[in-house]
Formats: sequence, structure tokens, C-alpha cells
Amino acid sequence: MSLHNQIVFFDTTLRDGEQSPGCTMHHDEKLRMAHQLANLGVDVLEAGFAIASQGDSDSIRMIAREVRGPRIASLARCKREDIEAAARSIEPADKARIHTFLASSDLHLEAKLKISRAEALNQAGESVRLARTFADDVEFSAEDATRTDPDFLVEIVTAAVQAGATTINIPDTVGYTTPDEYAATFRMLIAKVPGIDDVILSTHCHNDLGMAVANTLAGIHAGARQAECTINGIGERAGNAALEEIAAALMVRRDKLPYTNNIKLNQLYPTSQMLAEFISFGCSPNKAVVGANAFAHESGIHQHGMMANPLTYEIMTPESVGVPATNMVLGKHSGRRLLEQRLTELGHKLTRAQLDDVYHRFTELADRKKSIYDQDLLGLLQPDKSTV
Ligand code: KIV
Ligand code: ZN
Repeated sequence: MSLHNQIVFFDTTLRDGEQSPGCTMHHDEKLRMAHQLANLGVDVLEAGFAIASQGDSDSIRMIAREVRGPRIASLARCKREDIEAAARSIEPADKARIHTFLASSDLHLEAKLKISRAEALNQAGESVRLARTFADDVEFSAEDATRTDPDFLVEIVTAAVQAGATTINIPDTVGYTTPDEYAATFRMLIAKVPGIDDVILSTHCHNDLGMAVANTLAGIHAGARQAECTINGIGERAGNAALEEIAAALMVRRDKLPYTNNIKLNQLYPTSQMLAEFISFGCSPNKAVVGANAFAHESGIHQHGMMANPLTYEIMTPESVGVPATNMVLGKHSGRRLLEQRLTELGHKLTRAQLDDVYHRFTELADRKKSIYDQDLLGLLQPDKSTV
């Protein structure tokens, strides 16, 4: 594990993200997304799972040929045909990675793979060695690592390191772990795996209990230097750790998380918007950093504070993450200051008495109507003509 403070952002929107319901993307959408991920500054771009389908393999190959900047990765099970397919798909890339994985928990070994621990050790070692014949950069993931017997996790990670893996990923495949437990797993591996200092340790967290980003940051704090994540947190079931949340946390809390990275923060929102355009859902309005309400304020107390100093209720500026502007929403919780400001913007400077009168009618309307538009405000200025 190297001790530098640079975090490698490994984006798996086009692989773990795309394999979840409603997230399928066409070939050309994947390419446009990959170019945008390169603009965003991701270091590693997992473009797909080559053996999964001809379409996936073609997309990876096209991205490997056309997208420059990030290292292009393909996923592969610990099987010869998978690794060979991954190697073929990433072949045109100027920087490439084979990402091979094998489950390590007894539950997965017994119920899914029906192999013994000894067989798993052998498969992991053989597969990493095979992958290294095609690529200098090979990542090994111990699937379901957080539910794996710790002693066996040490054994399988040791086997992968000895076989030549350059990155070791510790997936919380089912979003089961907690921040302190995940951090302890990294510390344990750093203490017990010979040669671990020469590889990069990686987080890969799912969000089943809503802790994916917290677990990722805990892993980084304990020594991981790669974060696997997706745009808008899309991914299997409740999703993966959201890239924009990790990047924003590293910026806003650099006092506690003093790590550098290559993400261009002002590209976070455009990237989130592009993904929402391609898949069948956008993110929820209250999604951190990029949701429609992430920089919106409706309550009068908050609006008053924001008008005095935006730091009162915003811990980062919208512009810093590429969101065009703060959104002050007029609604039943709003105060007269924002109403006055909006009416002035609309060209109506009112006296105090006029403002009191309009504000009174505004609150009545806001009680009846959930959204207040500029037309409604203009209507309030002419109560006799108002139709609302
Ligand atoms: O969640 C997981 O375990 C994965 C692996 C394939 C890395 O996505
Ligand atoms: Zn995953």
C-alpha cells in the first residue's frame, strides 16, 4: 500500500451501473458518457464486462479506441474465456486494465460457485497470472469480501498479490459493512498481507444500508487509495457509492480528508445530467450534490440567511460542482424578503404597505397552491384580474 495521498477515481457507471434495472445504455450513449467521464477526470473507466455480450465487448473496444485520458478496464470472472475476452476488448487502449474477480465468502463459494476455499485460492492466483500475460495492470476483487472469513480474505488477497495483481479491491458487494468495520478490514490486510505495500488497495461499496459513501471514505482513511463509484450512485439494487458525493466530500472536508484527486468538480453536474438523459430515471430531487433540491431553499428563515450570507445554509457553492445557481423557491414557507426581491426582479418596486398587502395574499395562495410561478405573482399584483 503506497502512502501517497492521491486517490484514484475508478468509475464503473458503464459496468456496475449499467447492469442495474433501467440503466441500459446504447452503444453511442456509452461512448458519449465515456468521453464525459474523461472530461470529468476519472482515472480508471470500467467500460463493461466483455464476456457478457457482443454489444458489451464492442462498446468496450470502441471506448478503448476512442477515449483518451482514463485507463480503460474490462471486468472478467476468474475464467480463461472471460480474461481473454477482456484482453481483446481493451487491446486498442493506450492504458488498459483487466479487472478479474472471484467470490471469497463461504456463502458464495458454497451456494453459488460450488468450489472449496483451496480451489478458490488456486483460481484467483491462476487468473491473475493469466491476466498479467495480457496487461501490466491487473485488478483482483474478492467479491463479498466484507462477509468473508478474515483469515481467508488474507489468504486470497495474498495469493492475488503474489500472482502479480497491481490493485486489490475489497468489495462490500451487498452493502453490509459499517464504516468502522470496513476501515478495520483495510488495516488488517495492511498488517497481514505480505507485499501489500506494492499494490493499491481499493474500495467498492454498495448502498443497501445507505452507507456506501461513508464506507468508502472510511476505507480511504484506513489506507485505500482507489475509490470505485458511479455517477448518481447508480448500480445493483440500491446502487454504488456516488462519485459526486465522494468528490464533494473530499473537497468540502479536506481538513479531515486531506487527499488529492483529478476530478474536475465543475463537471459533476453536467455528467449527472447527461447520465439522467440516457437512462430511464434521473436522481431524486434531494440527492446530495446534484439533485434538483441540493441548492434550493424554500423556508423564509433559510432564505433570509442565504440573502445575508450563503455560507449560512450552503457548505459549497453550486457553481463549484457545476450547478448553475442557487434556487430560491417561493412557497408557503417563504418570507416577504424573497417575495420583495422577486417582484423587484419582475420590475415591480412596492411600498411597504403594498408589499404587506401582496404578501398577505401570497401566503393565502401558497396555502392552496403547491408551486408558485412568476405569473402567479403578477396576478397577485392585480387581485381583481387574478384567476388563481
Ligand atoms: O459488487 C461487487 O462485488 C462487484 C465486483 C464484480 C467488483 O461489482
Ligand atoms: Zn459492485
